[in-house]
Amino acid sequence: METAAQEAFHNTSGGDVGDLWGPIGELRRTVGVLSGSLMSGAAAGGDRQHFTILRYDDCAAALRDDTTFTSGIYVDMMRPVMGRTILEMEEPEHRRHRGLAGHAFRHKTLTRWETELIRPLAHELIDGFAPRGHAELVRELTFPFPVQVIARILGLPHDDYPYFQALAFTLTSVGEGYEGPKKASDELADYLRPIVAERRANPSDDLISEIAAAEIDGERLTDDEIVSYLRLLLPAGSETTYCSIGSLLLALLTHTDQLDEVRADRALIGPAIEELLRWEPAVPFIPRLAVRDVTIAGVEIPAGSQVTVALGSANRDETRFPDPERFDIHRPEQQHLAFAFGPHMCLGMHLARMETRVALDTLFTRLPDLRLDPTTGDDPHIHGEIFRSPTSLPVLFG
Ligand code: HEM
Repeated sequence: METAAQEAFHNTSGGDVGDLWGPIGELRRTVGVLSGSLMSGAAAGGDRQHFTILRYDDCAAALRDDTTFTSGIYVDMMRPVMGRTILEMEEPEHRRHRGLAGHAFRHKTLTRWETELIRPLAHELIDGFAPRGHAELVRELTFPFPVQVIARILGLPHDDYPYFQALAFTLTSVGEGYEGPKKASDELADYLRPIVAERRANPSDDLISEIAAAEIDGERLTDDEIVSYLRLLLPAGSETTYCSIGSLLLALLTHTDQLDEVRADRALIGPAIEELLRWEPAVPFIPRLAVRDVTIAGVEIPAGSQVTVALGSANRDETRFPDPERFDIHRPEQQHLAFAFGPHMCLGMHLARMETRVALDTLFTRLPDLRLDPTTGDDPHIHGEIFRSPTSLPVLFG
């Protein structure tokens, strides 16, 4: 049984779209740039003309060229719910905000978070089902884990976690309209504002205190700017990582020869994470706004068009990744686009990788013979077009 928060999120993320990559591969090989959208419903965009870039080199070039393809598209798409975030900002404002906040994600901090916060959390969640011999890993591990990671690195009170988690998922569940997410967004700001003020007055060793204290050229973020940034971290850091960990577990549980290898040699978790990010990126499409006329793959894109950069299609471009449909943890290392590219490339990518590594490592140590449970009648597979993930992972162990 899905929780209400899970159900709302899965309704938003695009439901069961079946074989997403087969038809897209055909388009990538034949037309390169699609005139139109691959998305259904609201995600297809409003009244603008719409184009979809499908090949690796074209996607990477578009993301690098942020003066032609701007993320100003998020002003329409996200601002009504999320307020102003760094995702919609352009240079030089973007660089300043990103620099101040990004300071907190450096290697030394991540190492400390791993031992003090994230590994203990993985154990705590696994404690909840380890004695039972069976579990549903989406509900019991992959869904609560990343949002509680964020709660811990922000230094929020433990008793607030369920409240914080419910707000986090309501924030992006726009499938049933904007009213609920907007309310959750306002509530979250009201909840965070006094905490930010308090940490500014009495700094501790959490992320909120670090962001409040960070300075570039003598400048600090205002309390409202910090609240906006924290509010973006929630969907940016929890839904994505949740999807990614679930998809990786499913990929390994259904490729048992590779699962055995990773279990025996934990150094292979890193390559397995990169291969999953290539094969099934959590966010397969990101939007941009073309602000001047431009031609790609012979297709003219007029200024003012909405342009979808199909990260998931780029990652299966056979000119860069031979036999792209195959999940293969021994694939030679090549940059994929799961975290995008260019100025807005994911700020939390090292955290996401670390969380995923810790979740898998802890799970394989605690439950050495983890396997899919064939008796539940469930058919776990990867769903969704906005976010991609399995919606359930019934497993047996012990
Ligand atoms: C596997 C997990 C993740 C994936 C696949 C992912 C993917 C992405 C992508 C594709 C973008 C670019 C969006 C765009 O330009 O339109 C992005 C941006 C961003 N991500 Fe992630 N992300 C993940 C985890 C995280 C985590 C854990 C955090 C932080 C806690 C985070 C924070 C951010 C932020 C703040 C941005 C905006 C950066 C900017 O505009 O400069 N992400 N992410």
